[in-house]
Amino acid sequence: MTPSHQLRCTGCADRISGDNIPSDFRCSACQSLFEVLYSWSDAEIGTRDLPNPAALRWLWQERRSSTQAIDQSGVWRFRDLLPIVADLERVTTLREGNTPLYDLPKCAASLGINWLLAKHQGMNPTGSFKDTGMTAALSVAVERQYEWVACASTGNTSASMAAYAARAGLRSIVFIPEGKIAWGKLSQSMDYGALTVQLRTDFDGCVKLVNELVRVHPIYLLNSVNPYRLEGQKTPAFELLEQMDWQVPEHIIVPGGNLANSSALAKGFAEARVLGLISRLPRISIVQAEGANPLYQAMQHTGGRQLEPVAAETRASAIRIGNPASWKKAVNALQSTGGWCEQVSEAEIALAKAQIGAEGIGCEPASAVTLAGLKKLVGDGRVQAEDRVVLILTGHTLKDSDYTIAFHRDELLSHDEQAALPPSQQTEANNLRKPPVLLDANRDTVLRTLEAHMSALPV
Ligand code: F0G
Repeated sequence: MTPSHQLRCTGCADRISGDNIPSDFRCSACQSLFEVLYSWSDAEIGTRDLPNPAALRWLWQERRSSTQAIDQSGVWRFRDLLPIVADLERVTTLREGNTPLYDLPKCAASLGINWLLAKHQGMNPTGSFKDTGMTAALSVAVERQYEWVACASTGNTSASMAAYAARAGLRSIVFIPEGKIAWGKLSQSMDYGALTVQLRTDFDGCVKLVNELVRVHPIYLLNSVNPYRLEGQKTPAFELLEQMDWQVPEHIIVPGGNLANSSALAKGFAEARVLGLISRLPRISIVQAEGANPLYQAMQHTGGRQLEPVAAETRASAIRIGNPASWKKAVNALQSTGGWCEQVSEAEIALAKAQIGAEGIGCEPASAVTLAGLKKLVGDGRVQAEDRVVLILTGHTLKDSDYTIAFHRDELLSHDEQAALPPSQQTEANNLRKPPVLLDANRDTVLRTLEAHMSALPV
């Protein structure tokens, strides 16, 4: 049988077969990460016998009306470009993907740009973009007959892994930093039956221990160092293009944490270009929180050649990561697409999150860095008014409702953090705050108070 794919080391370019990969997914020669390689992965490999782009588009559209689970999945619908499991009957799917593309007219107007869209990956089955990658890598774990899977997580990977493992009948172990993940996410991994281990350390400490674990036990690692995760996470690129009638936006903006998602999307767009589905790439820009900004620092100080880990601190707990595993892949994504890396403050994140909420959409704090970062790109002209920009919103607003409530009660940010915002943005944040109104259940009081509010509201 011809193997459907190979794995290529992103450091020394060594190629191995899929089943020869070390348990920590690092090249034994140079310790770099692998990527999945097909005949359409890059133009140099040779472009003979490639699938026909028009036929692919037709097929993907056709599958939308099928009643089969793998056709209803927004990941496996594109399975022609991720032939990583031989037996499609055994794919584990929760019908992930198929996420909406919304426009954000109020945010666009406040930035002075014509066109702003959000691809809401938080609308996946477990409420985050991780599901698109998890269906792919977990299905590989099933095919390779693992009984246990594990990950270290800031909360979303663990929620997703626990759900997919439960669906597949596998056991799962989650390592999370104690007290540093949002309750919604913690509750999910318990609900889906994972062995949930809270470690007295940060995310980076959890990663070290999960690596020790998979070295000594036959447990399949489902962190994003696993290259099959990225095969699923590249498919939102195809879905987005499909939703835009195969028009390529000028900019895609993603949050940066462990730094895998940016490169997964870049891989999707690059493959689409080799196949002739599109003729150019969008710029992919990555936004980090100021307190967890190792890639931003690396780009500023070394042009992306070296990365110094940082001690990470941000309320956007999903991206509280100081030593990101996939940073070299992210640098490649920036350089190959001409994107930028930006950093944003805690107050900028909180304001951006409230603005996305006020569009009736909402997202978790880590996702809101995209809008906050876009303001900087527009501010200095890197993004022009007529550019088409797509924010990738990575998590659902209900993942971290404590954060949202604290913002609206004005208990989230310190005085100094707020004061660092430009005055117009402070006013905007104040206008967006909608704390609950507590009243006695008395007709006159209720009517009087509501009438005062109604007359104060802008029409
Ligand atoms: N947004 C959300 C909501 C996330 O949960 C994460 C990462 C990111 C953005 C960053 O993506 O790591 O590919 O750069 N969360 C991981 C987790 C690390 O464990 O759930 P990245």
